[in-house]
Amino acid sequence: MKTFKIHTFGCQMNEHDSEKIAFLLRERGLVPGQEGRPDLFIINSCAVREKSVQKLYALLGRTRDWAAKGTVVGVVGCVAQLEREKLIRHFPHLRFVVGPGSYPSLESLLERILKGERVVAARWEGKWWETGGALRQKPAVAYINIMEGCDKFCTYCVVPFTRGRERYRPLPWILDEVKRAVDQGYREIQLLGQNVDSWRWEEYRFWHLLDEVRKVPGLKWLRFITSHPRDFTREIAEVMAEGEPITPYVHLPLQAGSDKILRLMKRGYTREEFVEKVAMIRERVPNSSIGTDIIVGFPYEEEEDFQRTLEVVRWAEFDNMYSFHYSPRPFSYAGRNLPDNVPREIKRRRLLELQALQAEIQRRKNASFVGKTVEVLATGRSARDPEAFMGRDLTYRVVNFQCRRDPLGRILQVEIEEAGPHSLKGKVVHEPSR
Ligand code: 5AD
Ligand code: SF4
Repeated sequence: MKTFKIHTFGCQMNEHDSEKIAFLLRERGLVPGQEGRPDLFIINSCAVREKSVQKLYALLGRTRDWAAKGTVVGVVGCVAQLEREKLIRHFPHLRFVVGPGSYPSLESLLERILKGERVVAARWEGKWWETGGALRQKPAVAYINIMEGCDKFCTYCVVPFTRGRERYRPLPWILDEVKRAVDQGYREIQLLGQNVDSWRWEEYRFWHLLDEVRKVPGLKWLRFITSHPRDFTREIAEVMAEGEPITPYVHLPLQAGSDKILRLMKRGYTREEFVEKVAMIRERVPNSSIGTDIIVGFPYEEEEDFQRTLEVVRWAEFDNMYSFHYSPRPFSYAGRNLPDNVPREIKRRRLLELQALQAEIQRRKNASFVGKTVEVLATGRSARDPEAFMGRDLTYRVVNFQCRRDPLGRILQVEIEEAGPHSLKGKVVHEPSR
């Protein structure tokens, strides 16, 4: 029997696309390969920042050996959408390049690829990509797509060009998949989309969707990523305030704290409006937890602008943060029209300063958990200590813990004993019985 492997870069959307592709491959009789060289190797690429594209090129270089020995190597995902010709030219050993635009035809494309044909496809088909299943990789957590694409065109961002215009998945299909996943034993559902709160279907809006999904019997936790500050409404916060299964976590990218930079980024909100949104969430959603993304060194960012970002960060006291230095992206407005004029050294220093401030905030907030007992959904081994396990709590904090029996996929009571800026550490109150 033939084996396959998929290497995934990027966000949860990409991880889940890989799960759907794996499902289609298994339906065609292929099996996930363990050690060594597989018969089919797929790289699911990410184009959001320059660094992830460089990593893709490095990995592609290393796949030449496998290709020479007979592995069929191909690229899917966001870089495939953007750079199909270039990829084939640089890496003649590639047998296929398929971008998200062509995923709705992936089944017939796979048939051709498996017959040995060379396939390059990245046409926008505009349809919703429905596979009928996914080979889920995480214990107990099921990703479920609700929308794809983005119509916002923030000036730094490549996503509208890699994922296309917004498409929304119909409510009955979403509910169907949620029910199936819960019946199969998944405890947590993560609703995925580049911009979940712009989801709509007939007269339903995102808050209706949350309200429907939360009623699915047996669902333990419900999360959704990512929200856009402009579209996150009071109605959404009010449904969240109903509590479990909806978890109180919102991922709300700030990107920058100065109005000048927000305008250049075309984010569609001011610093003041963002601050009001955070205040609204904190006021309405009990135990709310807010994560964010920030870019430093966007064109024309001066020291004063950066200080405005630090001010918002200090005020908002985010529960987590992903931060990046700006890199120009192809097709994006800023990539084509604005000079990348903040020197690399300054970007680096600002990033370190921002991260140091945020680490301090997280250390302080996390310390307030010490001595408390929290519920944790165990999803893997701890990154640092192979003897320990990891999971996340209601607020999406990473919790590492010791446990004698295999806890994967279970909800456990963990007493928190230590807290660092990036995670909590504790011990299980009751060992799982099994
Ligand atoms: N440069 C740096 N960071 C970027 N992001 C998106 N585009 C860029 C870029 N050109 C970041 C944003 C986004 C996250 C997924 O990646 O913060 O929210
Ligand atoms: Fe990467 Fe963004 Fe595409 Fe996700 S949507 S795969 S983060 S470029």
